[in-house]
Amino acid sequence: MSQDPKSTSTSAERYTITAALPYSNGPVHIGHLAGVYVPADIYARFQRMQGKDVVFVCGSDEHGVPITLKARKEGITPQQVVDKYHAIIKKAFEDFGITFDNYSRTSAKIHHETASAFFKKLYEDGKFVEKVTEQFYDAEARQFLADRFIVGICPVCGYEESYGDQCENCGTSHNATDLIKPKSAITGATPSLKKTRHWFLPLDQYEAWLKEWIIEGHKKDWKINVYGQCKSWIDDGLRPRAVTRDLDWGIPVPLEGADGKVLYVWFDAPIGYISSTKEWAEREGKDWEPYWKDKDTKLLHFIGKDNIVFHCIIFPSMLKAEGSYILPANVPANEFLNLEGDKISTSKNWAVWLHEYLDDFPGQQDVLRYVLTANAPETKDSDFSWTDFQARNNNELVAIFGNFINRVVVLTHKYYDGVVPVSTNLIKIDNIALGVIESNKNHISKSLENYRFREALNHLMNTARMGNQYLAGEEPWKTIKTDEERTKTVMYVALQIASALAVLSEPFLPFTSEKLKKMLCFSKLETMPEWKSITEDNIFLPGGHQIGESSLLFSKIEDTQIQQQRDKLQASKKANEAMNTTTAPQKDIINFDDFTKLDMRVGTIIEAERMPKTKKLMVLKVDMGIDVRTIVSGIAESFTAEEVVGKKVTVLINLAPRAIRGVDSEGMILMTETADGKFVFINPDEDGIGNGATIN
Ligand code: MF3
Ligand code: ZN
Repeated sequence: MSQDPKSTSTSAERYTITAALPYSNGPVHIGHLAGVYVPADIYARFQRMQGKDVVFVCGSDEHGVPITLKARKEGITPQQVVDKYHAIIKKAFEDFGITFDNYSRTSAKIHHETASAFFKKLYEDGKFVEKVTEQFYDAEARQFLADRFIVGICPVCGYEESYGDQCENCGTSHNATDLIKPKSAITGATPSLKKTRHWFLPLDQYEAWLKEWIIEGHKKDWKINVYGQCKSWIDDGLRPRAVTRDLDWGIPVPLEGADGKVLYVWFDAPIGYISSTKEWAEREGKDWEPYWKDKDTKLLHFIGKDNIVFHCIIFPSMLKAEGSYILPANVPANEFLNLEGDKISTSKNWAVWLHEYLDDFPGQQDVLRYVLTANAPETKDSDFSWTDFQARNNNELVAIFGNFINRVVVLTHKYYDGVVPVSTNLIKIDNIALGVIESNKNHISKSLENYRFREALNHLMNTARMGNQYLAGEEPWKTIKTDEERTKTVMYVALQIASALAVLSEPFLPFTSEKLKKMLCFSKLETMPEWKSITEDNIFLPGGHQIGESSLLFSKIEDTQIQQQRDKLQASKKANEAMNTTTAPQKDIINFDDFTKLDMRVGTIIEAERMPKTKKLMVLKVDMGIDVRTIVSGIAESFTAEEVVGKKVTVLINLAPRAIRGVDSEGMILMTETADGKFVFINPDEDGIGNGATIN
């Protein structure tokens, strides 16, 4: 798929830029960064540098079933889950220089108020349809099974683990009742149907308007992948969508008699963009409304492809229904980033986590930003590989960008003690080089205005490439011996290119830009070089300006570092395989009372004898401190009788006695198993632990 080559987007003075609110049930990985946050940040930085009035908002998405499921699995509360990951995610974004003006969370009070008020307004304006429908109900868990609480076979692609609201395999969004062989994600039971009342947004009523707004109106300026998905959704016909759920985690439905019901997470989360803007405006003493209600504001949603329907169809319909909001001008959604040829997966730990990357590559945020932009899944899925990461760092950042800057700064110190020489006579080639700066700036701007981040980055690197070619052609290291005046001019021009790079790289490589500006002592200049000041003459550093010492902007990444990363992934793969074969899923949660019923104690095996005519069974006498018990245990293939006598073991002693081959077994020895099926005792073998000691 290729993008329309014409520039079709128009620029505005005020921008409201949103980045998808990440679910607060796990840390963020490179896929999130590449698909959403890096492009959004580049764009926001770029518009700010144009002097535009920008608000760039995000926050954690803290409702929804996955969070409740995670809490159940870990035996903690949903609030504990979101508190933990909100902090981790927020820090990762800060660490990678993602310049949100505000990072909020949907459990915040301001969000609960904003989302409730939004719902109420639509309710009072008669925008919802109230319906009683049959929904899946898990009698054992005594709960309705909304969204991800239910799994089954996708009616479209046949994927076996499709969720109630969406199939992760083919991306189709459906109703839970469409699933084939549905089962409860809580108990595994086949659910029954039970009547319940909910509020629906009648999307069918918005079809004509959506056709006009998207299919007619945004054919030229929306990305092909985004436009195509929207068109096929609309062409298929839209159905009313429930915006409430029977759940206990979320924003309570603000109506009388709606106890036990909350807003659907996809209803409340996008309103989070509005709440986050409000929170920011309150803090900054600004008015939030122009950012959401003034027709001259450009509203942009940066998201991944799985979010297209929500941002292009459902949320705009909500905004339209409310009536006072503007609609997104564009939704530059990206496709997915794979990792070493496989789909990134949180549950399989097939991912590069941002916090782990920083442990392994401290201070090298820009390298990752660079690689993820150069290889962004802009028009189709792309692949991140560690080999490519290393090559792009070593052959591009180090060899092109870093090398150019290093040569310029080192030579300026060598020839002129770090003082920018005064140029006497610019000749044609010098003017051409300076002219390239401006034309590349224009190329970068145009690419960014059209959300072509890979292309924009390429124009930036071409500027550094041009600098290297200029130096290689003019050879100041040779002319210094023959023509001092010419050398001054060449170094003067090269220093201007270096300065331009400091400015132009800022949206993409903010940490590098910062370092370079320091190196070139921008702060001591009378006028700070800016994006806007890159014009025809392109002179930023006047003769006589003192620059600082050279320091390396990028460093070579060694094979051993790359191997470590590959090993790490390999280990995940192994662990997964092992998990799939031997690890049983967690059983149902029990409460403390259940646990205290178990009487587990330490004992010592004092006699052991193989049970005749069996392969597996052994009859043991175990000294339990309070008595001596007979226990029949299936360990005969793992141990000989001699081996076990004298061994300390843990025993469940209040299990109802059971006759095994005519022998009463009066307890159960706790054991685990190795991968090849050999039993191992859970063995409290410490001095001072006597028989009869209780375990709790
Ligand atoms: N949490 C969602 C996801 O990760 C995105 C929510 S975007 C919002 O897929 F618009 F709803 F906020
Ligand atoms: Zn499917």
